[in-house]
Amino acid sequence: MPNFHEATSHSYISVRKNSFYLDWETQPKNFKAYPHFQLRFKIDDFDELTNLNLIGGITYEKKYPQGKYYLRTNPSAGGLYPCEIYLQIRGLNGLISGVYHYEPLSKTICLLYEIENDGVEYYFKDKRKQKGITFLLSSIYFRSSWKYRNRAIRYILLDGGHALGAIYAAMCVMKKDSKIVFDFDKLALNDIFGFREDEMLMVALSSSIETEQETKQIKNKFPFVSGCDFLETNNFIEDAYKASVLYQSDDIIELDFFRKIDTNTLKNSILNRRSIRAFKKIAITNNEFLFIINNIFDFAIKHKVDIFYTVHMVDNKLQGLYKNQELIREGNFSKKSSYLSLEQNIGGESAATFYFTSNEEEAYQKVNLLSGFLAQIIYLKSEIKNIGCTGIGAYYDDEVKEFLETSNNILYLLAIGK
Ligand SMILES: Cc1cc2nc3c(=O)[nH]c(=O)nc-3n(C[C@H](O)[C@H](O)[C@H](O)COP(=O)(O)O)c2cc1C
Repeated sequence: MPNFHEATSHSYISVRKNSFYLDWETQPKNFKAYPHFQLRFKIDDFDELTNLNLIGGITYEKKYPQGKYYLRTNPSAGGLYPCEIYLQIRGLNGLISGVYHYEPLSKTICLLYEIENDGVEYYFKDKRKQKGITFLLSSIYFRSSWKYRNRAIRYILLDGGHALGAIYAAMCVMKKDSKIVFDFDKLALNDIFGFREDEMLMVALSSSIETEQETKQIKNKFPFVSGCDFLETNNFIEDAYKASVLYQSDDIIELDFFRKIDTNTLKNSILNRRSIRAFKKIAITNNEFLFIINNIFDFAIKHKVDIFYTVHMVDNKLQGLYKNQELIREGNFSKKSSYLSLEQNIGGESAATFYFTSNEEEAYQKVNLLSGFLAQIIYLKSEIKNIGCTGIGAYYDDEVKEFLETSNNILYLLAIGK
C-alpha cells in the first residue's frame, strides 16, 4: 500500500511553502439533497425515531451577510462536514422498510429505495435480516479537499469517526444497542447507491436485532445525485480510498462508554457540545480526568490505537508525557504541545492533550475512524463535566513522532481543559 499518510504530513517548512489561497465564496455545498419529488418523512412524526436527530442534527446557527452557517452534533475539520448518513429501516412500527437518506436541515429522512427480502445486509458478512436501523456513513471528499487538498484523506476518516460516535451516542439516548461494522462490501454498495468516485462509504453501525432469514441482493441501483454543486477531482484521495478500503475486521459490539450516564445528561451534552476556541488555563481535577478517559485506553489498545497524552493542568497528576496509562517522561510540555499543534495555543494551554497514533497499515481506515470515534466520546464526556474540548488535525507529523519517540503514524490530536 502506498504510504499516503506520510505523503500528507505537515512540517514546519511544508506549511510555510504552501501558497494555496482559499476563496470562501467557492466553498462547495455541504448538504446533499435528493430530488424534491422523493418521499420524505418528518422524524418528529414517529415515536420509533424520537431523538434520531441527535445522529447529526443542527445544534447551532450562525448568521453572516452571505447567509447562514450551521454547526452540527458532530465536530468537523474546518466545519466542512464531508459525511452523509444513510439508514436502512426494517420492521419498525409505522415506517416503510427501506433505505433512506438523512437530511438534517429539514429533519427528515428521504426514502431512496423500498426493501423486502433484499437489503444492505446482503453486503455484510452476516447476511441475516436486521430488524431495526442500520446506518451507513459516507464521505463526499471534495467538501474537505476543497480546503485541505490531499491531507483531506485524513480528515474525512476522522470526521467519519466523529459522525460514527455521534450516531452511537444518539443510540445510547434512544436506549438501543450498537454494533460497529467495518468489514462489508463498500465498493458494491457505493455502486448500488449510485455514487460516483466522489462519494464513498466508510463504516456502518447496526442498531438492530438479527432474524433467521438471509437477505437477497438489492435489485435496482439508486440514481446518481451529486452531493456537491461542483467537483474538483482529487486522484490522490480516490486512489488512497481504493487502496485502503479492503481490510478484515470483526464487528465491534463491546461498546460501553455511556452506560452509567443518564440519558438526559447525555442528550444535553450532545446538544450543547462545541469545540472550545481558547482555554482560560484552569486546572481540571483528577476525578474529572478519570471520568473522561474511562474505558478509552483499553478499547484503543484492543483495536491497535496507541494513545499518548501530555498532562499540563490536572490536579494531583504529575505533569508529563504518558502512553496509554503510564507516565513515560516527567516535565512541563505545555509549550511543546502548542508548537507541535502547528503553533496553535489550544494544543498546549489545555489541561491535557491526547495524541492518537497507530502502526496499523492494513486497516488504516479503521484506526483513523476509531480515533475520531473515541475523540467524539471524549468530547461528550468532557461536555458533561463542563470541560472544553477540541480536535486538532493540524500538527507537525515528524516532530510529534520524535517527541513521542514512536514510529507510529500520528493520526489525531485532541485537547481538553478549561
Ligand atoms: C478532524 C478534525 C480536525 C480539527 N482540527 C482543528 C484544529 O486543528 N484546530 C482547531 O482549532 N479546531 C479544529 N477542529 C475543530 C473544528 O474547527 C470544529 O469542529 C468546527 O469548527 C465545528 O465546530 P463545533 O465543533 O463547535 O461544532 C477539528 C475538528 C475535527 C473533527
